[in-house]
Amino acid sequence: MNTPPGPAPVLAGATLAQDTFDKFRALIYQKTGIHMREGKQILIANRLRKRLVHLKLASYEEYYSLLTAGRCSDAEMAQFIDAVSTNETYFFREGNHFTALSTTILPELFRTQGRVRIWSAGCSTGEEVYTLRIVADQAARAAGVREPEIVGTDISTTVISRARGGIYKDRALRLVPPELLKTYFVPVDNGAFQVSAEARARVEFRVHNLFTDPPPWEGVNIIFCRNVMIYFDKPTQTKLVDGIFARAIHPDGYLFIGHSESLSGFTKCFTYASALKAPIYRRKKDAAAVARDAPGVTLDAAGAVRDVFGTAKGAGGTAREGTL
Ligand SMILES: C[S@@+](CC[C@H](N)C(=O)[O-])C[C@H]1O[C@@H](n2cnc3c(N)ncnc32)[C@H](O)[C@@H]1O
Repeated sequence: MNTPPGPAPVLAGATLAQDTFDKFRALIYQKTGIHMREGKQILIANRLRKRLVHLKLASYEEYYSLLTAGRCSDAEMAQFIDAVSTNETYFFREGNHFTALSTTILPELFRTQGRVRIWSAGCSTGEEVYTLRIVADQAARAAGVREPEIVGTDISTTVISRARGGIYKDRALRLVPPELLKTYFVPVDNGAFQVSAEARARVEFRVHNLFTDPPPWEGVNIIFCRNVMIYFDKPTQTKLVDGIFARAIHPDGYLFIGHSESLSGFTKCFTYASALKAPIYRRKKDAAAVARDAPGVTLDAAGAVRDVFGTAKGAGGTAREGTL
């Protein structure tokens, strides 16, 4: 959206009233599934202030009207979603996931599957995806098999464009062993490093809403969805795990979630793989039947998934660019 002409109004007095905050919370939930708790009013006010300044709006109420009155561009809605999502990530985050992957899970899948497909769902700026590329390449080389295919998806257009660029600084790179830094990265300006063109060419990134776009493949062998569900409420987590992931994942597939997350107490489709000593779940054998009836998942007449917010979508298959 273009910046409107004229002087910027004085924003010092703009405050986010409770009822406007409640309306933003409902909009955020509707668009992303993110459950913005009470107490996040200051956070949301701070994150949206830059949109008010950019658009020269005098109040949060005006911004809410702009987003919802049918005159909002896709680009401004994307900016709004960028502003309200949390994108913290770094290379080799929660390292025992990658140990389990390279020592146990990938060798097993290389033995039993013709090809291995990995989906990083909610990948933010790409560090998780490139870590997967490095770990999967090394495991495939050791086993003498074809490298897994890897796709990273995120609802935020800004983070996906940064992921495609693959440029990172110290904070993101702090856990990358020096020999891997040398092999997989090239130094660029200002002390930053860029993932090598060769490695970047072997991952794919897409803008994708977990709830309104079909999964990148049917029969995904490994889903990483780490530190994403933490922002969703229980009903939304259930829809995602037992509705969407249970349908997308291969019968022998693995689901990795963040170390501060848990599926215990609500999933009927996944079982905790306790031997792996990390938050990793396997699909249960009867999950397909359960997934068909998972809360929030309905099928249309052709058997395609109607997504959790009610929009008809294809049941998956080939990958395609998602939209907000
Ligand atoms: C904290 S980051 C996690 C990054 C990475 N998985 C990790 O653990 O380091 C959470 C990401 O989830 C994304 N996200 C939130 N809601 C989403 C949705 N409905 N669909 C797709 N991505 C979503 C956010 O944009 C954000 O980039």
